[in-house]
Amino acid sequence: MTRRWLDQVETLAREALPPAVFRYVAEGARNEISLGEASAAWDAMRLAPRVLRDVRTVDTRTTLLGADFAVPLGIAPMTLQRAADPGGEVTMAAAAHLAGVPMVLSSNAGSTFADVASTGAHWWLQAYVAAERSDTVPLLESAVAAGAEAVVLTADTPLIGTRYSLPEGPGVWEVADPAWVGANATTPTGADPESRAKAMDLGPADIGWLAETTGLPVVVKGVMRPDDARRCVEAGAAAIWISNHGGRQLDQVLATAHCVAGVRAAVGESAQVYVDGGIRSGLHALIALALGADAVFVGRPIFHALAADGGAGVDRALREYADELVESLRLAGCASPQDARGIVAPTPTAGPSNRPETRL
Ligand code: FNR
Repeated sequence: MTRRWLDQVETLAREALPPAVFRYVAEGARNEISLGEASAAWDAMRLAPRVLRDVRTVDTRTTLLGADFAVPLGIAPMTLQRAADPGGEVTMAAAAHLAGVPMVLSSNAGSTFADVASTGAHWWLQAYVAAERSDTVPLLESAVAAGAEAVVLTADTPLIGTRYSLPEGPGVWEVADPAWVGANATTPTGADPESRAKAMDLGPADIGWLAETTGLPVVVKGVMRPDDARRCVEAGAAAIWISNHGGRQLDQVLATAHCVAGVRAAVGESAQVYVDGGIRSGLHALIALALGADAVFVGRPIFHALAADGGAGVDRALREYADELVESLRLAGCASPQDARGIVAPTPTAGPSNRPETRL
């Protein structure tokens, strides 16, 4: 069998992107320990598959926040998509629509809400809440007016964690075209829109405030702990999104793979549970579902696919995830994602990683 497109996209993206942008996508916080551990944590999990099950038909359809999707997979919010493709988030959303998955739009997107909505995609707005809450309201209101179906509160970013850019050459915000970001900004932006003052006093009340202001389901992204997950649900969150921001915020945090079972146990069925971070295959997705997630979200590989071949690249990458998930479900004796619950041990098996990238 030929190598997966997903195994090639990073190399192709490196060729296609300005070095500072490629580095920005790849980078993690400080010593990049959490970044390096993310995929290895999924690799270290072991399944106990079922047998003697009818797997002639595998149905991956999943309902997330009331909308039906083809697979329990989505595109994580990422800024700078217009650095990868002229259409940026619009190209990404069109590919998401084709694949039947949700697209989460970064609040720092370079495409307008209206243009993203015109693709017909189901899209959710990722929001940072500003220190001055009322500064966030115009952004929220215009997203609602354009048809956002949920608001994803990024809760792990009271400030941008320190990352080290390329040792030589310009930093990403020096090479970034201003048109690549801030298309929906309602307050004046500086060169680096990520550095705008973010609330350092976010609390459970902000979840209720977001729900009331938007009338949309609120997803809290960046949750790692069962007790925090419970607090979010008590405050009205519709879903918990386990994430360490792709290892880009606090270094030496747990791998998200190790958080899923605990968070699911804490919230029971009172909220949906999503997870991202290092999910690089349909098999990783199956493991996340087995641990208790309702859906997984993917970041960097999809960005790379966009840079490598635009919408066709994203489509191909999403198809590979979906096809691998179906094969893995079938081999594990599961006719649906729901059947996968519990077929994995909640703690990892020690052992070296043997992913194809490390073998070659
Ligand atoms: C991100 N991420 C992110 N998260 C967020 O809440 N708002 C944002 O604007 C961004 N921007 C962003 C840009 C880029 C280039 C990357 C790589 C990541 C984090 C993202 O949503 C997600 O949590 C991780 O990327 C998931 O990990 P993987 O799949 O990249 O390993």
